[in-house]
Amino acid sequence: MRKTVTEIRSMKADGKRITVLTAYDASMARLLGNCGVDVLLVGDSLGMVMLGYDSTVPVTMDEMLHHAKAVRRGAPDSFIVGDMPFGSYHTGTRDAVINGQRFLKEAGCDAVKLEGGLAMCEIVRALIAAGVPVMAHIGLTPQTASQLGGYKVQGKGIEEARRLLAEARGLEEAGAFGIVLECVPSKLARVITTSLAMPTIGIGAGADCDGQVLVTHDMLGMFEKFTPRFVKKYADLAPMMKTAVQQYVSEVQGGFYPGPEHGFAGESDYLELVSD
Ligand code: KIV
Repeated sequence: MRKTVTEIRSMKADGKRITVLTAYDASMARLLGNCGVDVLLVGDSLGMVMLGYDSTVPVTMDEMLHHAKAVRRGAPDSFIVGDMPFGSYHTGTRDAVINGQRFLKEAGCDAVKLEGGLAMCEIVRALIAAGVPVMAHIGLTPQTASQLGGYKVQGKGIEEARRLLAEARGLEEAGAFGIVLECVPSKLARVITTSLAMPTIGIGAGADCDGQVLVTHDMLGMFEKFTPRFVKKYADLAPMMKTAVQQYVSEVQGGFYPGPEHGFAGESDYLELVSD
């Protein structure tokens, strides 16, 4: 059964940890949904993982919707969050609402996620007023990483920590139903978590968040370009995939694949006897 926003929110009050993983295509979405993952995030990380961009900045609404639709087809019963790409909510509330609603209307998402602190509160309010549930995202916000000095831990200093706490509170007040805390010190994440009613979803933010999110390709060891320090690799699939592909190449080249068991039989088998 697909969860609702209310059920995701109440998992915090019930002391149930929320599991979130990224999904970008139908088969992975089906697999993750069948494993009991609470929330599938169609993250704009797909720009780097699936589309080969160097950052998430170039990702477009059309690219996000294309993948979000596939995820919904693969996981009809999962709670799906669509990540609003850079530029799709920065030009004003009208554009943000139009683009946010596209995730729900066209891709069948349950909610959207957007990056940013107090400056985003007005956008969050507008989306919620327009019927689009919002998950916030603060700390390391990859879409604006260059303004933050790169892909660095945020909130190490006391002033910065206070700012992040104020941002989290402001976004909750604006109506967000949850918030991603990315790359913030574990103790700060705990303080933010205990001061909010909405659940915090950590990524590089320690064990005291209400839930955790990872990029699926990182935790399965499928993305080889780099692996952030906070990622635990639950599998190392890339070497296994390479071995399998190399074996396929050598078996096809050597004439060992396909074997007789991979072929089909039919009346046409007698064609060579009856021809001529
Ligand atoms: O795009 C993404 O995958 C994300 C998560 C890493 C939180 O925003």
